[in-house]
Amino acid sequence: MVLGTGIDIIEVARVKTIAEKNPRFLEKIFTAGEIDYCLKKRNKYQHLAARFAAKEAFFKAIGRRINWTDVELYNLSSGKPELKIRNRERFRIENAHVSISHLKDYAVAAVILEGKL
Ligand SMILES: CC(C)(COP(=O)(O)OP(=O)(O)OC[C@H]1O[C@@H](n2cnc3c(N)ncnc32)[C@H](O)[C@@H]1OP(=O)(O)O)[C@@H](O)C(=O)NCCC(=O)NCCS
Repeated sequence: MVLGTGIDIIEVARVKTIAEKNPRFLEKIFTAGEIDYCLKKRNKYQHLAARFAAKEAFFKAIGRRINWTDVELYNLSSGKPELKIRNRERFRIENAHVSISHLKDYAVAAVILEGKL
């Protein structure tokens, strides 16, 4: 069954401004793998913002916040994004689906979680 859904939209400029003001922001929010992926990209703040949105969308889907780095977005070799959730059993999640999209100004993400209640 569907345990929850979540969606989030964020301004790319907001992530850029915070990251430039606070050097610890990236490490607090993103895993090493996420930072590595995004910083290699030309439009790195678009990719970071989309991952921020994916985490917020995940929090909405589970109905609460957990540590930012306990949920990681990574990409399959096809480019398709997937969520890695630390201790996913505690939320009874069997399948986590995520989709992200980003433009110059905005990034969006949607999450659908499946499992047994
Ligand atoms: C995948 C694709 C649709 C992305 O669309 P886009 O308009 O260029 O870019 P968007 O901003 O909307 O989306 C980018 C995100 O799509 C995701 N993505 C990439 N490949 C994907 C795939 N095969 N399936 C699902 N999502 C994918 C990634 O998460 C990417 O963001 P990231 O690099 O920060 O992780 C486009 O690259 C494409 O058409 N690829 C070839 C065909 C394909 O594999 N299509 C699959 C969906 S029909």
